[in-house]
Amino acid sequence: MSSNRWVPIGAGVGLRLPHIAEVAATRPSVPWLEIHPENFLANPHATELLLEVRRDYPISVHTVGVSVGSVGGIDHVHLQRVRTLVDMVDPVFVSGHLAWSTHDGEYLNDLLPLPYDEETLRLVAAHIDEVQDSLGRPYLLENPSSYLGFDTSTMSELDFLREVVRRTGCRLLCDVSNVYLSAHNMGYDPYWYIDGLPIGAVGELHLGGFTPEEDEAEPGAQILIDTHAGRIAEPVWELYARAVRRFGAKPTLIEWDNDIPSFAVLLAEARRADEIAGRALAPESRCAVAG
Ligand SMILES: [Fe+2]
Repeated sequence: MSSNRWVPIGAGVGLRLPHIAEVAATRPSVPWLEIHPENFLANPHATELLLEVRRDYPISVHTVGVSVGSVGGIDHVHLQRVRTLVDMVDPVFVSGHLAWSTHDGEYLNDLLPLPYDEETLRLVAAHIDEVQDSLGRPYLLENPSSYLGFDTSTMSELDFLREVVRRTGCRLLCDVSNVYLSAHNMGYDPYWYIDGLPIGAVGELHLGGFTPEEDEAEPGAQILIDTHAGRIAEPVWELYARAVRRFGAKPTLIEWDNDIPSFAVLLAEARRADEIAGRALAPESRCAVAG
């Protein structure tokens, strides 16, 4: 099998099941694609199409069911199934979330938050070691979308991520939209967060749409929900420009998982990401930032 494991340049899109036949048939112009392995594990027809598509596009595998934060440990059956797909696809990246989503063998439909303390750090680091050993490649860990914090946390999310990277050698997937909406929901500066991530560890960026909702705990205030159900918001594009200036031109993914539009709409968002990254990295832009 030929390898597609060269790191792509530019913005790709999340390949979801409604578009896979179209992409296999028309081969649209997009530098790379990201999939959720969980969409393919019990879908041989989709897997067949994916193996066709992978001949022409670098593929990234973004897991939603590998729960590195679960106290009950990693589900080895699931991990083995993901590994089988990874071995077939030979992706450029394998990534997942700093979260937990399984308990007692039950898969929950949410990516749930973790307290940031030494005990969680040991647990998450041990699970990432296990995942990386099993997959035989580095794992990229994505910063979560946050709606609440724990009184028991003894370190910031940034310190937690930095320490996970140090202990495991994993890399980071910086979801710029998650940074923006978490900063809004939790009351911190998203630019401070971007500036605090370890530059050398960030291998990929995500951009997705969010949905504002009324905050029931605080009437009149809004909470931003990570729905992946719309276009990228303007302030997120501005934050993305900062992320590109800080991390360089990293492969960037447009994520759209609900109310999925035509593939052309996804491509238009990817092209906008490329334009913004190009402007952010232009010499005059860098001088303006330095000044
Ligand atoms: Fe993401």
